[in-house]
Amino acid sequence: MIKNDSNRLIVTPYLSLLPEDLYQKLAASCQHPSPISQEDAIKNYGAIFQHTYNKLVFLTKDLIQTLQKLRENPTLIQNIDTKIKERLLQEKILGTENEIFSFHHYIQMDIEIDTRCNYRCEYCPVSTNLHPPNLMLDALYDSLLLKAKEYGIKNIALNHYNEPTLHQKLLAKIEQAVSLGFCINLFTNGSLLNEEKIAKIKNIGNTKIIINLPTLNATKYQQITKSKLLSKVLENIELLIKYQVDTKLVIIATKEEREESIHKILSVYEKMLGKPLMTEPLSRGGMLANDQYCSAIENEGILSGCHSALNQFSVSFDGVAFLCCQDYDKKYVLGDLKIHSIKEVAESEEAIALRKMILGYATSSREFICRKCEWTSSLDPQNLMDFSGSREQYSKISEDLRNNIFNNLYEQFIKSNHLIFI
Ligand SMILES: C[S@@+](CC[C@H](N)C(=O)[O-])C[C@H]1O[C@@H](n2cnc3c(N)ncnc32)[C@H](O)[C@@H]1O
Ligand code: SF4
Ligand code: SF4
Repeated sequence: MIKNDSNRLIVTPYLSLLPEDLYQKLAASCQHPSPISQEDAIKNYGAIFQHTYNKLVFLTKDLIQTLQKLRENPTLIQNIDTKIKERLLQEKILGTENEIFSFHHYIQMDIEIDTRCNYRCEYCPVSTNLHPPNLMLDALYDSLLLKAKEYGIKNIALNHYNEPTLHQKLLAKIEQAVSLGFCINLFTNGSLLNEEKIAKIKNIGNTKIIINLPTLNATKYQQITKSKLLSKVLENIELLIKYQVDTKLVIIATKEEREESIHKILSVYEKMLGKPLMTEPLSRGGMLANDQYCSAIENEGILSGCHSALNQFSVSFDGVAFLCCQDYDKKYVLGDLKIHSIKEVAESEEAIALRKMILGYATSSREFICRKCEWTSSLDPQNLMDFSGSREQYSKISEDLRNNIFNNLYEQFIKSNHLIFI
């Protein structure tokens, strides 16, 4: 694999400038014995969140403006004072292109153990563009787990757009991963579980079950999923509750029926299962052809980054690592995990080229998947320090998923006063 070898210094795109009102709140409540007075902080400073290192950095307003210009034009680096440059490098606000675009911090790996599904949900690309049936070889699964362990991945999901419970050896696969220390997120339509399997899953532990439940109405369920198995799914949800297996729901409904569906499902299950993990249909990078569920997205100009691309990636049944779970057709390849380690594919030329486009340092074609995805947005030319503009999406997902995402982190920082001054 060819490595990017650019040593040019640039401003990292993994920065979010705190909105002024939030910054003022922070500066006013800051008890930290800081090198600047509170008055100075309120008047002359601002703060930037550095996402890759989870640090909140106070900088003068002038320096923030300089960084904005530098982001547009890296040659302006010559005008920055050497000492300030060193501090910015230390806090990873500046870095070499190579360092910045090679950065990865994967927490979750989605493994496509099988490509088949017994449903055809109308909000899923499986209903319109079915992939041919394929199974991952056991030896490949074994080696992926070892590579994930070596890398430090924490969570494993056993799906791309497939139903993992169709796999004959699913429970053994879960057990194997859990015994290596992983937490499993089992996304499933729930139709093929039964009491014996649920008891076994409880016994294995460290497995969260996430049930895809669009409605409680059997006729509608069949219409939406093309499956008659709603009563079996509901029976299995009762068993999951009985066995106290960590279980969450995903409720995907049309724009028109969303409120009612969510309300009906939650009135039965919220007490036992809490809030749903997700209720927001995604266009799957333009693959979802059904606009009753969501409208097409067009992110213009340069893109503002994506938490998903930073934290999670997917592996196909044949060991190819690709960009993310939105990439139904597995078009955006990072590398081959049959041959390479996770670190190697994460730092491949292909991965770096994708990051440059996602992070707004390279232009991308109109067809590029992230241009049509809800998990990023166009970067505002007036504020180039706005990593991942998809706050709207984050505000709609559950707290479970929002963990570690910047809205929460701002609040944590306000409480903890863990601050850096430049
Ligand atoms: C693609 S499915 C694969 C696993 C399994 N077959 C299932 O249905 O849970 C994974 C998750 O994606 C959700 N999902 C499917 N289509 C979606 C869409 N257009 N937007 C958001 N989530 C969707 C499902 O509800 C499910 O929770
Ligand atoms: S959402 Fe899951 S169950 Fe429904 S068609 Fe897609 S992969 Fe199958
Ligand atoms: S913006 Fe969407 S398509 Fe692009 S990497 Fe993020 S989740 Fe995937």
